[in-house]
Amino acid sequence: MSFPWAKKYEPTNPFMQWLDQRLPVPRLVYDSLGAGYPTPRNLNYFWNFGSLAGIALVLQIVTGIVLAMHYAANTQVAFGSVEHIMRDVNYGWLFRYAHANGASFFFIVVYIHIFRGLYFSSYKAPREMIWLLGLVIFLLMMATAFMGYVLPWGQMSFWGAKVITGLFSAIPLVGETLQTWLLGGFAPDNAALNRFFSLHYLLPFVIAGVVILHIWALHIPGSSNPTGVEVKSEVDTVPFHPYYTAKDGFGLGIFLIIFTLVVTLAPNALGHPDNYIEANPLSTPAHIVPEWYFLPFYAILRAFTVDFLFIPAKLMGVLAMFASILLLFFLPWLDKSPVRSGNYRPLFRIFFVLLLVDVVILTICGGAPAEEPWVMISQVASAYYFAHFLLILPIVSSIEKPKPLPNSITEAVLGKSADDGASAGTTGSATPGLQPAE
Ligand code: HEM
Repeated sequence: MSFPWAKKYEPTNPFMQWLDQRLPVPRLVYDSLGAGYPTPRNLNYFWNFGSLAGIALVLQIVTGIVLAMHYAANTQVAFGSVEHIMRDVNYGWLFRYAHANGASFFFIVVYIHIFRGLYFSSYKAPREMIWLLGLVIFLLMMATAFMGYVLPWGQMSFWGAKVITGLFSAIPLVGETLQTWLLGGFAPDNAALNRFFSLHYLLPFVIAGVVILHIWALHIPGSSNPTGVEVKSEVDTVPFHPYYTAKDGFGLGIFLIIFTLVVTLAPNALGHPDNYIEANPLSTPAHIVPEWYFLPFYAILRAFTVDFLFIPAKLMGVLAMFASILLLFFLPWLDKSPVRSGNYRPLFRIFFVLLLVDVVILTICGGAPAEEPWVMISQVASAYYFAHFLLILPIVSSIEKPKPLPNSITEAVLGKSADDGASAGTTGSATPGLQPAE
């Protein structure tokens, strides 16, 4: 990004000058997270969740590395090694509870981050790439969390692995072979546990790499903001540091307080008690449920109960589950409204709230037993999920009359504009003032 008024990095310290000419890492930090990055002056607390997600990722990597020093990826001893971490390793309980709850907090933060993007249409031009890379991160996070949950080798670990890898068997012709190949056997066992551990250790670093691309893509157009009106002049921005480092720091403090309370006072509240029973391939738990953050997708998977022509219900469920995420890759092109922010879109706002309610219903259905009335409710809620993106959004975009937009971010904040140029809260190159100053 090249806002002409962005502050330039000019080190005065001789060592920093020497370093800047050889490996300008401090310059990179200054330009991306420091005073050299002009940021819209009106970002609200929903813009904290990107940096919080980054911190949650670091927390998972650090606690995970310590756990891996004591964990043994062998079905004979895996369960016992986790108990050993909890009881014998110094502060092992803390590392383990921080890691297990850290995964939940990571998903909470990222879900808020995604819904922020949906409400303020952060996925619209020119920020499509940030959104697409975000979705890649989300898919990688899901794979990492799934494989991590298998490692303690409890009942839910084993049966969850069996159900999820069993989904591949729904693929016609090659399904069963693929499932056996993925597991390294006919059921989850030592080979599967070893490869899951290996990949669970690797993927967070791949996620970190994609996060770097995500932030790089963000720095091309710069952050959007709650009005959706693009930055037009210097007064619309403040330097990232100290304004947003302070605001992000405050958000981090709140996050850490809540996180510490959960880790120390209710560390098993988000987990399933069956995972404290060692895996037993001969005893199927009454209800096999994934972790809470997978429940909406699990509900969509189970919503298909009857075969359709030659397509088995299981295959339709698997396809629908993957489609519910793949669909989001097309969102920048499905929502054609010229206005970004939900604050100026009264009709969109109603359907946004309905989508939130729908996802909560799917979450509840995903955790409920696969029987009536839950099956029927998940069928309706799954259909509504797809209808929201494929029908409602395009229709709302075309019939809605948005509220008038402020001329600039500064006008929205102070009630007066520093620059009386063209209105620019819309997307698409047809609108003057959309692109940041070059
Ligand atoms: C490890 C996970 C992630 C990290 C560390 C991360 C990090 C960030 C950061 C630091 C920002 C800038 C601050 C902000 O706008 O909140 C950002 C912006 C953004 N992220 Fe993420 N992100 C992650 C996952 C995702 C996911 C899963 C999506 C969507 C599917 C996503 C979509 C976006 C979008 C669209 C923006 C631009 C927002 C705007 O300027 O209005 N991110 N991300």
